[in-house]
Amino acid sequence: MRLRHHKIVRAVLLFAFALTCVVFAGHVAPVLGNTDGVTSIFRPLSQPAQEIKELSLLVLAICGAIFVVVAGLLVYAIIRFRHRAGDEASEPPQVYGSNQIELAWTILPLLIVFVLILVTSRTIADIQNRQAPPSAVHATVIGHQWWWEIRYPELGIVTANELHVPTSDSGGSRPTFIKLQSADVAHSFWVPLLAGKTDLIPNRENLMWIAPTRPGIYPGNCAEYCGTQHARMLIRVVVQPPDEFQQWVRDQQQSAAIETSAAEGRKTFFANSCVNCHTISGTTAQGKFGPDLTHLMSRTTLAAGAAPNMPDSLRKWIRDPQGIKVGSLMPNMQLTDAEVDQVVAYLQTLK
Ligand code: CUA
Repeated sequence: MRLRHHKIVRAVLLFAFALTCVVFAGHVAPVLGNTDGVTSIFRPLSQPAQEIKELSLLVLAICGAIFVVVAGLLVYAIIRFRHRAGDEASEPPQVYGSNQIELAWTILPLLIVFVLILVTSRTIADIQNRQAPPSAVHATVIGHQWWWEIRYPELGIVTANELHVPTSDSGGSRPTFIKLQSADVAHSFWVPLLAGKTDLIPNRENLMWIAPTRPGIYPGNCAEYCGTQHARMLIRVVVQPPDEFQQWVRDQQQSAAIETSAAEGRKTFFANSCVNCHTISGTTAQGKFGPDLTHLMSRTTLAAGAAPNMPDSLRKWIRDPQGIKVGSLMPNMQLTDAEVDQVVAYLQTLK
């Protein structure tokens, strides 16, 4: 009896733990702070995420009701028909088949599954068939090990790790349509407050859209294991009021600033193989393997969110990328301390 009691307590504890995990799922704080709160899938702030949340609440409610009925019947049977002293002497009545019960437990689940299929496919169709209005912003996001390349082909902008989009009104008037591609392995674009996950698959193009209505910085993650630094492949979606977004577009469309103050650093940068991997528009640096650095200083983080974009972390990053992000494909260029300082000074002019 004592033993059985322990087993029940353990099962209840396990269940409570599982429930806690479910409730906190999606409440994961990103590596860096300074975001607009938690990334809970239960507090969506954009259209597809809102629709997905409503659907999942319905599915949770139906599954919860089934759980309560099944578990209730189970507990009732366990208590009502538990072993009692003297049971060994007699055999319980033997029952074979019941048309009513068998029909009920065949038809009812079929109906429930049918309802679930209908509402789910309607939501999927709603989201996937959405056509881009003329006002839509178009972006292409390309997954790399381990950072995000972001292009706006119509605006002539290339950036990394921070996707800027304008706010929409509540009708979703100015959505951003995103083409998702991969340069190497499978990744997954997931910004929980804005939309569901969509994979980035090599040699394939996936589509998604978002229409956030509230300005802010929305953190997200790569959600498909893609190698050593999968966990530090953070994305930020910066949602801006239309005029602020337009200003950002104009700034990004400028060629790289050329300041005489950083001539030494510029020389060092162009004398090394930095230029083979990075682009700085208007210069001979046209590498495509690493992030575009034309407006590096307009971004808030380095190395896809692994470090804040501060002179000190920039210095550490250039001196020893592996020290910040093990496995990073950026090599240590073996620069002297003085050279690192010069390059940092140059990069800081790229506003
Ligand atoms: Cu990219 Cu995980």
